[in-house]
Amino acid sequence: MANNPSLEPTTGSSSSPAAGYAMGSSDHERRRLMRQGELLRELLAEAFRSAGIRPGMRVLDIGSGAGDVAMLAAEIVGPAGSVVGIDRDPASVAWATRRVGEAGLTNIRFQAGEFNEFTDAHPFDALVGRFILMYLPDPTATLRHLSQQLRSGAVISFFEPDFTVPSSVFPEMPDFKRCGEWIQEALRRSGARIDMGMHLYATYRDAGFVDTVTAVSHLSGCGVSREMVEFFTETIRSVLPKLEQYRIATREEVQIDTLADRMEEAGRAADPQWVSTRYIAAWAKKP
Ligand SMILES: C[S@@+](CC[C@H](N)C(=O)[O-])C[C@H]1O[C@@H](n2cnc3c(N)ncnc32)[C@H](O)[C@@H]1O
Repeated sequence: MANNPSLEPTTGSSSSPAAGYAMGSSDHERRRLMRQGELLRELLAEAFRSAGIRPGMRVLDIGSGAGDVAMLAAEIVGPAGSVVGIDRDPASVAWATRRVGEAGLTNIRFQAGEFNEFTDAHPFDALVGRFILMYLPDPTATLRHLSQQLRSGAVISFFEPDFTVPSSVFPEMPDFKRCGEWIQEALRRSGARIDMGMHLYATYRDAGFVDTVTAVSHLSGCGVSREMVEFFTETIRSVLPKLEQYRIATREEVQIDTLADRMEEAGRAADPQWVSTRYIAAWAKKP
């Protein structure tokens, strides 16, 4: 999905609005989000630090999924601060709530709901999210609505992909490339804005935020780890219904149960150096 290092570009940019979340709702998808959260944790932490998220703040995380972004924010704001995560999927809210309970974190709360209907009695110091604006039909309208829940001077910080920039792999690995293309096409066809990272400034500006700063990051590495292969395979598993629905690939072509082993074998043979697609973090202020 979104953060797969082997994703390849499509021609042009996707501009059709998202109708929903292409990856669906399942425990398997939530475990995939957790794996993704681990892979991108340091890049997001750096973006949050640069944005000025700091101890004592009250943070709103939209599209909280399995809870990883909220948990990172909670670590930064510390016991004097707090985080509210919202997601439309009650199963994800229950999952994230159980997770923070098990971790003994008391400064995070998750609640189910639509962003455009969200209100809270107290203003927030920061609004954050990762891989979420790309799925919204009208991100500007959503930010404009949520801005009403922020105090003046509050920080906004989102982390979104730009999949129109290809990953680089040497030597080339055709099987990985093909899987990347499947994922990207499934996202695009289901309405996700795959180059949302490049729309952050305009979206913030149109929603009334000022002083936007952007930062670009990539993942990179040598060789292909089992962890990477499993993340890739889990991403394909999550989009499999869309691959079939849009006739992008058949189950027979994908052979999901042997995919990880086949990829690992290909990775061992190629032993590549790689750089992922790019991710863009942008932060700004509410005047
Ligand atoms: C790609 S996941 C991102 C999860 C998390 N931000 C992360 O990086 O691990 C997107 C999440 O946004 C939620 N979502 C999508 N559109 C939404 C909406 N309009 N209102 C509330 N939640 C939404 C989905 O249910 C899903 O859990």
